[in-house]
Formats: sequence, C-alpha cells, structure tokens
Amino acid sequence: MSIQNIMVIGAGQMGAGIAQVCAQSGFQVKLNDLSQDALDKGIKGIEKRLARAVEKGRMSEQDQNDTLNRLSTTTSLQDSNDCDLVIEAVVENMDVKTKVFSELDQHAPKHAILASNTSSLPITEIAAVTERADQVIGMHFMNPVPVMKLVEIIRGLQTSDETYKAIEDMTKQLDKNPVEVNDFPGFVSNRVLMPMINEAIYTVYEGVAEPEAVDEVMKLGMNHPMGPLTLADFIGLDTCLYIMEVLHDGFGDSKYRPCPLLRQYVKAGWLGKKSGRGFYKYEG
Ligand code: NAI
Repeated sequence: MSIQNIMVIGAGQMGAGIAQVCAQSGFQVKLNDLSQDALDKGIKGIEKRLARAVEKGRMSEQDQNDTLNRLSTTTSLQDSNDCDLVIEAVVENMDVKTKVFSELDQHAPKHAILASNTSSLPITEIAAVTERADQVIGMHFMNPVPVMKLVEIIRGLQTSDETYKAIEDMTKQLDKNPVEVNDFPGFVSNRVLMPMINEAIYTVYEGVAEPEAVDEVMKLGMNHPMGPLTLADFIGLDTCLYIMEVLHDGFGDSKYRPCPLLRQYVKAGWLGKKSGRGFYKYEG
C-alpha cells in the first residue's frame, strides 16, 4: 500500500517531532491535539528546529518552506478521513489511547493503518477496541525524534504481515532504522533499559555509591554516552516508575520491583529535569 497522507495525534514532545520528520520526508501531515494552543506550541517547536537546521547549513530554505507547507493542524479526529496512516502520540494512558483509537476507527478510511507511539502499553489491547486489529501496530520512536535513528516496530498479536511491511517501508522513507519486536511488556528497549536504570537507583538506595559515581562508572567503564541516573532524570522519574510497574505487573516477576527510592522521589515531586530536581538539581 502507498502511504501519502498522515495524521499525528498529540503535538507534545514526541508528536511534534514525529510530524516534523514525516513532513521533512515528503508526507502530507495533519497534526492533531486537543487545543489550538497545544498545536501552536508544537508547530513553534518545529519551526525553531527547522530554522536552526537552515542556520547550520543542514537544510536549504526551500526544504524548510516545503516542509512547513506540508504541515497543517486540526483539533478534530474527523479530519483523519483522508489519511493512509495515523500515528498516535498522546499521553501514556490506556483509557485515553483506547478512546482515541475507537474514535479513529470510525473516521479513518478502511485501508488506513493506525499506529501508536506508546513506550510500554500493549498494542494488542489497543488494537482490540478497533474493528481492524490487523491494521494496528506500534511505532516506538525515540526522543528526540529528529535525531534518533531507531523506530522499534511492535507487532500486536493480530497485526498482519502487510501492515508490518508497509510500516517497515515507511520507516525507511523517514531515514530511520526499523527493528521488529513482538508485543511483550516494555518491548525490547524499555525491558532492557529500565531494569538497568532501576538497578542503578538501587545502588544509590543501598549506599553502594553516590549518583555521580554510578554515572561515572557506566560512562567511563561501559562507554555509555550518558549515565543511567542522568538518563532517568531526562526521561522523567514518573515515567521510569510507570514503565517499571508495567514490567512488574506484566511479568509478575520480583526482579522488576521498582526501587523504593524511585517511588519516594516521585512522591516528593522530584521527577527529574522537568521538575528541576531528580538525582541531580537543575537550574531554571
Ligand atoms: P507530551 O505530554 O509531551 O504530549 C502529549 C500530547 O498529547 C499533549 O500535547 C496533549 O495535549 C496531547 N493529548 C492528550 N490527550 C489527547 C487526545 N485525546 N487527543 C489529542 N491529543 C491529546 O507526551 P510525550 O512525551 O510526547 O509522549 C507521548 C507518547 O509518546 C506517550 O505514549 C509516551 O509514552 C510516548 N513516548 C515518549 C517518549 C519520551 O521520551 N517522552 C519516548 C518514546 C515514546
């Protein structure tokens, strides 16, 4: 199938990045959010990133204008009625996502593929609220979307080979690398990453080492570009806790037990960089 028109739902951190990358690659993109304010904020971010790319000589002014011309905004899901693909990037909440998918199922054309950028929720469960479970799939982009090369593609239990192939091809058109993964809690990325972050938090909790020392060991010793506790602060400690809970509930295995210190920080409102304090303090 040929994908030309795309709707991206959610103009936040991830959705705006996904819309930008799709428009840059020649797709017509409608960006959707609940309010015009949220859409304006998303578009402003895209304009800023494109302007910086032009300034640095990584993009021509012509490409900048063409990209912006391929982007439009809407607050109505009904406007998905001429789209070949919809990529959902709303908040990580099953009730919100299933509501969006069941509404989309009524408006998007019969042939359209519905994808979710969820970082941890089961694609099979999201697909089950639609009448086209074979055309529902996970497209897990990494943050920041314009920079990161990976898209983890998650096949739900009922995702068809045709749907997978169309999304694999489309991901390559975005100049990204697709990796095929089955639908299990945390997929591959977060199943491997989050327990490492959680274990790093345990080493602080048990007094094995200070956060700076833990990060230094992993950076200098394991060649990680960023220590796990710095990374946790960037991701958001609430998000890290949420994903550990998904792993713990999904597998019922105590090895995924969230560290009590992580719970305590989240309860205190120490959510990492976005709240000004996590394992480190952030100015402003
Ligand atoms: P965000 O909070 O920056 O953006 C979410 C956007 O969705 C907001 O603009 C909000 O107004 C909008 N929204 C909420 N309900 C909506 C609805 N019913 N219809 C339309 N728009 C709605 O969140 P972020 O970080 O962009 O995350 C979005 C998704 O991407 C989540 O599922 C998250 O797990 C996933 N993700 C996040 C990553 C990250 O590093 N932040 C990385 C990979 C995936």
